[in-house]
Amino acid sequence: MTQQPQAVIELIPASQFSIGELTSIYNQTRVDYMVPMPMNAERLAEYIETYDVDLERSLVAMDGSGMRGVAMLGVRADRAWVTRLGVIPGTRKGGVGTALVRGLLEQSGLLGIDFNMLEVIKNNTPAHQLFFKLGFYEVGELLILRRAPLVPPIEPMIADARRLERYEALDLIGDDRGAQPWTNQSETLHHVTDISGLRLTLGDGSTGWLVYQRQKFLLSRFIYKTDTGDPAMMAYAFLSHLHHQYPRLDTRLENIHVSDPHLPGFRKMGYIESFRRIEMWRGEPPASLVHSK
Ligand SMILES: CC(C)(COP(=O)(O)OP(=O)(O)OC[C@H]1O[C@@H](n2cnc3c(N)ncnc32)[C@H](O)[C@@H]1OP(=O)(O)O)[C@@H](O)C(=O)NCCC(=O)NCCS
Repeated sequence: MTQQPQAVIELIPASQFSIGELTSIYNQTRVDYMVPMPMNAERLAEYIETYDVDLERSLVAMDGSGMRGVAMLGVRADRAWVTRLGVIPGTRKGGVGTALVRGLLEQSGLLGIDFNMLEVIKNNTPAHQLFFKLGFYEVGELLILRRAPLVPPIEPMIADARRLERYEALDLIGDDRGAQPWTNQSETLHHVTDISGLRLTLGDGSTGWLVYQRQKFLLSRFIYKTDTGDPAMMAYAFLSHLHHQYPRLDTRLENIHVSDPHLPGFRKMGYIESFRRIEMWRGEPPASLVHSK
């Protein structure tokens, strides 16, 4: 039977609230979250922009006493993304989370989209169960990795290395890499600044490339490919060049597939796992996302 909210809950488009109000409700829903991720208004605005969050189709749950929960919908060609879901602690287990996610699915349905994606932190049982109940299924496990600068600095592996400008990097990642996690899709990289890349050819003929974002204190958003050769070796090679070039920067990567064959190269370079997410889908990926280079 369909679960109904106990109190009278109204779902209102998030576009009717200010970024400050949305930041406040989001933070209130996450006070006890497994991985603390508080946001400020500036960061939420950037998040909305970077991930194509459609505030007209995102929802705030209200009852007589105010905002009770929030859920946002990212919208891109043929796919939608459920994100920022949260219900304030005292209101949970009353059907509000279900109502919010159902509301988002209805919105993506109205756009003619029946492929919805999300990620949930591993062992977040309430959210995982809720998504299962609403028809999402698991497709894989994703790693969130970090690397602190190492002393002494890394020596670059001998290779023919060529720096790629932003336009070359964006061209290289293309737009047909299959159904990647939302954060790592090409659209995301198109929306952010400071993207560049590196193309390497090793002495044994192995070739590959890395595209990344470099901010003042941080390297992130890696997209990479081994064209020829061993992926673990190629990862070590491009990471050795990158970390040699930027010895003082921290690195944070999100949503790397646990089965990615490049991972041994990352581990050897000092990357450690912060936590894991479960990737979940609802519906089948459309043909436009299945094709991969
Ligand atoms: C996940 C969350 C949004 C659920 O909101 P909610 O309003 O409590 O959800 P509902 O009352 O609609 O519950 C729906 C289903 O979720 C599951 N669920 C909810 N709380 C649960 C719990 N504590 N343990 C196990 N399952 C739970 C159940 O399957 C439940 O159905 P049931 O009541 O028939 O058993 C809420 O717990 C929350 O805000 N958590 C912190 C933020 C968060 O984890 N966000 C999701 C990030 S991906």
